[in-house]
Amino acid sequence: MNGLRRLEGTLRVQGSKNAALPILAAALLTPKSTIHNCPDLSDVAAAIHILEDLGCRCCREGSSVTVTADSCPQSFIADSLMREMRSSVVFLGAMVARCGKARISFPGGCELGPRPIDMHLSGLQKMGVFIRDDGGYLDCRAENGLHGARIALPFPSVGATENIMIAACTAKGTTEIHNAAREPEIGGLADFLNAAGARIRIAPDGTVFIEGVKQLHECEYTVIADRIAAATYLCAAAVSGGRLLLTGADPGHLTACIPLYEQAGCTVHIREDAIELQAPKRLGALPIVRTMPYPGFPTDAQAPFMAMSSLAAGTSVFVENIFENRYKHAGELARMGADIKLEGRVAVVEGTERLHGASVNCTDLRGGAALVVAALAAEGETVVREIRHIERGYEALEKNLSLLGADIRRVAED
Ligand code: EPZ
Repeated sequence: MNGLRRLEGTLRVQGSKNAALPILAAALLTPKSTIHNCPDLSDVAAAIHILEDLGCRCCREGSSVTVTADSCPQSFIADSLMREMRSSVVFLGAMVARCGKARISFPGGCELGPRPIDMHLSGLQKMGVFIRDDGGYLDCRAENGLHGARIALPFPSVGATENIMIAACTAKGTTEIHNAAREPEIGGLADFLNAAGARIRIAPDGTVFIEGVKQLHECEYTVIADRIAAATYLCAAAVSGGRLLLTGADPGHLTACIPLYEQAGCTVHIREDAIELQAPKRLGALPIVRTMPYPGFPTDAQAPFMAMSSLAAGTSVFVENIFENRYKHAGELARMGADIKLEGRVAVVEGTERLHGASVNCTDLRGGAALVVAALAAEGETVVREIRHIERGYEALEKNLSLLGADIRRVAED
């Protein structure tokens, strides 16, 4: 990539990765489901691979994926597939609901510090699942079927909320999830399951009530817009000094991010399903940015915002409250001239006027996107390696940026 090109134009934001993944797992409970606006990403391909391995038929036509799960699927996911991504664990709830048993190993995913699955497991145990650790595999059984339960999560875990919601759809009785995650992707999953005949209600305080039904039926559903991809493109436009009209976005899902662009000096116009951002001549520093469960500032947007603030006039401070080790990109940004000091959960970013090109490695999905954002504003050439991380979550990133005016191309490595 060669930096210092101003981004200008209109971009339609992709469907949400983190909404599509649990929906694909939940598709196991329906005889047939068609999922529109399903982003074409390596993590989505990994979920489809798991579905096929379980015996489902999957077919992608453009941005629509149809999953046929009319016969009873397998209940085993091989370790190699489990390791491909973290959200493979959400298949657990779907498999025990559909087959009464499941055998999986511990999931992989971005290295962001320890990522236990204790809340997933204890929620499912309350619903009647017996779990045995069998040499790295979890042997899960619900021979008498699942039953409703009152589950209070110690932390509003996104994945645990999703796993329990999926498992509860066809359980006997009603399940309540207290202190459930409130991310928009949870609402998306509920909408998909309800379209298939589930009875899920989310109370205004976020408590999820799931009244079990006998079975789910065929359905069609359109995945919500990806709020993190949207936030990343807005950061890209902001650092380039450009102007971006982002269509197909849901501004209501970005209420914690939009004021930060404004604080940095950007002019932001909100429409019903579009966001327009005009960058200032020089970005200003951010107030203290604390990552929090939704509706707080999303941990997934921390890295792109850090890239943006590394070019601001002044000092910005980040506090990462969700994951223990989500600052790996800071060292790579430093190779491009960013001045970032880390202490535990806190990162202090002294903005510099200019970054310079460098050879950098993606450390994880959002960290990788942050390097691309920084490279857009760096003098000279940046080579971003290990882009397989970026491919997990951003559809056609380099094509989109180059249509907006960036000098970016993908080259195969030997
Ligand atoms: C989801 O991960 C997202 N992934 C992540 O997006 C996102 O960063 C995260 O939610 C937080 O918003 C998907 O939706 C596929 P959690 P998830 O369970 O479900 C701890 C991205 O970049 N925890 O809410 O794994 C956990 O260790 C990704 O797109 C337990 O201790 O997140 C973490 O510290 C990466 N025990 C915190 O809770 C558990 O049983 C939040 O995790 C579960 C979680």
